[in-house]
Amino acid sequence: MKKLLAALIIAVCPAIALGNTAAAHPLDKVTVDLHDKAALQDGARTFVNNCMGCHSAKFQRYERVADDIGIPHELMMENLVFTGTNIGDHMKIGMQPEDAKKWFGAPPPDLTLVARVRGNDWLYTYLRTFYEDPTRPWGVNNLVFPSVGMPNVLANLQGRQVMGCKQVQVVDGGTKQYDPLTGTPITHEACDQLVVLPKTGTLSEAEFDEKIKNLVTFLDYSANPVKIKSQRIGTYVLLYLAFFFVFAYLLKREYWKDVH
Ligand code: HEC
Repeated sequence: MKKLLAALIIAVCPAIALGNTAAAHPLDKVTVDLHDKAALQDGARTFVNNCMGCHSAKFQRYERVADDIGIPHELMMENLVFTGTNIGDHMKIGMQPEDAKKWFGAPPPDLTLVARVRGNDWLYTYLRTFYEDPTRPWGVNNLVFPSVGMPNVLANLQGRQVMGCKQVQVVDGGTKQYDPLTGTPITHEACDQLVVLPKTGTLSEAEFDEKIKNLVTFLDYSANPVKIKSQRIGTYVLLYLAFFFVFAYLLKREYWKDVH
């Protein structure tokens, strides 16, 4: 009986965990295109320049990344590979996990597979919802990762995001409301909203969203680097089958010609 009870408790645990995330901040949707080389390259650049100070992608090699996303090796070496590292090396970092734990409270996890663990929508929302919170050690908090131990490393691009009041569009029954006469959106003032202070970042909101989308595209590729290739092979297989069908059909006609 005890065993049965224990099994039951373990069985409902995932449900409890899922229940928790469902109650959290709703995620913004993002659709990434793994065939968009420009997006992948921009994402790789953002990742190496802004994230690899703390996070590794140690199941991934620079060379493989360069080949998969179409960056010539010389350019990769010049711009994206740290000095003293070879193109065939794994994307490791120098920071020691013990030090990192001391500095940040939690060691920055390896990000090679994070897109599989968290999902693209979560990453896209997480990276855009840091906001200033003076009660936290790094002065920032996050909507989908409360009490996060990571500083807001992209604040110079996004600008200073704070919790404040702003005009938001009225939504009734899931549809956005517009003034029937002028066609302009109907808004009301809402508080507890993320607001970017004007002129504090180098990118506009749309440009920043695009940057993060590209970064998520790169992380999604990184979590499953064969996805691009397997989709291409899948297309060839289907084309081959379509081509083969014609001959198979002709052969079938030939065989059955005399039967009827
Ligand atoms: C200054 C160090 C630092 C930098 C730079 C940094 N991070 Fe982090 N990151 C952390 C720490 C520390 C954590 C762990 C936070 C925690 O557990 O509270 C973390 C956590 C994360 C997580 C959550 C992982 C998980 O599943 O729990 C993601 C995703 C992430 N970082 C992405 C990024 C990306 C993308 C960049 C580059 C734009 C970046 N980080 C740059 C320190 C950093």
